[in-house]
Amino acid sequence: MKLKDRVAIVTGAASGIGKACAEKFAAEGAKVVVADVSEKGKEVAAAINGHYIHVDVTNHESVAAMVEETVRQFGKLDIIMNNAGIDGLQAPTDESTIENWHNVMKINMDGVYYGMKYALAVMKAQKSGVVLNTASIAGMVAFPNIPPYSASKAGVIHLTKAAAIEYAQYGIRVNAICPSVVMTPLVEHFIETSEDPEATRKRFENLNPLPGIVTLEAVANAALFLVSDDSAFISGVALPIDGAYTAQ
Ligand SMILES: NC(=O)c1ccc[n+]([C@@H]2O[C@H](COP(=O)([O-])OP(=O)(O)OC[C@H]3O[C@@H](n4cnc5c(N)ncnc54)[C@H](O)[C@@H]3O)[C@@H](O)[C@H]2O)c1
Repeated sequence: MKLKDRVAIVTGAASGIGKACAEKFAAEGAKVVVADVSEKGKEVAAAINGHYIHVDVTNHESVAAMVEETVRQFGKLDIIMNNAGIDGLQAPTDESTIENWHNVMKINMDGVYYGMKYALAVMKAQKSGVVLNTASIAGMVAFPNIPPYSASKAGVIHLTKAAAIEYAQYGIRVNAICPSVVMTPLVEHFIETSEDPEATRKRFENLNPLPGIVTLEAVANAALFLVSDDSAFISGVALPIDGAYTAQ
């Protein structure tokens, strides 16, 4: 029970990585707010005795309301995992659309900033708290044909590091995880909308030096480590979960 009685918000928790982390945190004793724009979050919350909050991370008022409702319900906020994200459309920079740029940046980057801004205000007053942002290996090394995705994830890493320095004085830790490819609806969408879906699937299956593909369990375990006291003095870190992909 590494998170006994901790109050945790996980955005994008209706699916994929967020869902796996919400389940893991709840299994370790946390009261989890399953925050998502999708109503599927209700089922996830019900299964883990959590609390669903409808949030659109592109809307700062919605994110502020999510944090406020959490504190009203549970009296504090110990953990926020800013995880909601999309892959967007694939095209080289000159062929990519401005609409796609803004769609991806609004969710992947603005959404993380809003979550940090409002959660950190509460944590600063408490003088405690942990922030975990979901970045990506695409924020550490460039991936072609997804300009706003790569840029947003690199941005999330720097938001993470800057805030880690800013809030260290309050005992607040801020970290990011950088998973390689994990099979989720986001990745299925990426594969299906790529030029050659079969080739993309094969490439992903053999992407990392470690054999096999990153599992949701591996990501959730790394997330648990970074939000629990096991990582007590670790802050400002962007942790790859990538079977040595970024070591190349
Ligand atoms: N799957 C991977 O291979 C991989 C690798 C590295 C990083 N990531 C990152 O992990 C995070 C989760 O991705 P996933 O693969 O689990 O995807 P997913 O599609 O399974 O889940 C994403 C969730 O975010 C929610 N969401 C989307 N827009 C939202 C909004 N505006 N407000 C609130 N919620 C919103 C969706 O409803 C969904 O439940 C993303 O930030 C993604 O970039 C994924």
